Amino acid sequence: MRSSIDPKGCWPVSEETRGELLIRYLKQRIELGQREWYLDGGAADFIARIGALVREVSASPATAGPPTGTTGAGCEGTSVAINAAPRSGNDFEALRTEVLGCTRCRLAEARMTVVFGEGDGEADLLVVGEAPGYEEDLSGRPFVGPAGKLLDKMLAAIGFRRDEVFICNVLKCRPPGNRDPLADEIAACRPYLRKQVEVIAPRVICAFGRFAAQTLLATDQSLTRLRGSTHEFMGVPVVVTYHPAALLRNAEWKRPAWEDLKMLRRLYDDAGGRTPGGERG
Ligand code: URA
Repeated sequence: MRSSIDPKGCWPVSEETRGELLIRYLKQRIELGQREWYLDGGAADFIARIGALVREVSASPATAGPPTGTTGAGCEGTSVAINAAPRSGNDFEALRTEVLGCTRCRLAEARMTVVFGEGDGEADLLVVGEAPGYEEDLSGRPFVGPAGKLLDKMLAAIGFRRDEVFICNVLKCRPPGNRDPLADEIAACRPYLRKQVEVIAPRVICAFGRFAAQTLLATDQSLTRLRGSTHEFMGVPVVVTYHPAALLRNAEWKRPAWEDLKMLRRLYDDAGGRTPGGERG
């Protein structure tokens, strides 16, 4: 398998991985309405080699028909057109499209993908984290790295599969080097979180970590102060707990986190949340 330096020059990635990244990028651009790309010779050569993967994009629900136009190695530049189906008009898709095209802050310049969030768009439980990390930025999906694996286990411990909740972050783009989100970045992204809550209409929200808690609750109180009681965001009850990345570094916090999770599940049941695989209570 060929490998090369990844687009950020960090470490070698396989051609297959680059193909997957390209597909995700193309899908996001298609959702934003882009139909043509201008490729230099090298990119065209790469596309030609991963032609099967590009055909997968053109066969995906977001697109109709094969890519049109031509690609070829060694040419000065090549135009590739992909015919996309019209976007769905519902609120969720409209919001997603808006967020995917966001350029409200500096994070738009360095990001690979926008991480809108994923899961059940009508979930009764909304999970809010801090911001995408390296793996999330590459894949366009929230919580897929080591912290994400632990998040999955935490959710499973109280009876939820990942696809039964909606998982998103305060910031939709990765801060370079995983630095803390800056106040103006949070301010730029906060309206998206509000709209996600409006559209998904969860019965309970769980804030994982200080940034999620402080952003949702518009406070600068510490996580320690915020844990252990129920709060509210836009009329929806909020439970606050440790960020899974913090739990990976501090195993002694796992016990109190478990108490938070049990409280979350109780609140969820009291709020009439659907039992996994079942109907709304
Ligand atoms: N940490 C977060 O807060 N969110 C992610 O998506 C990944 C790691």
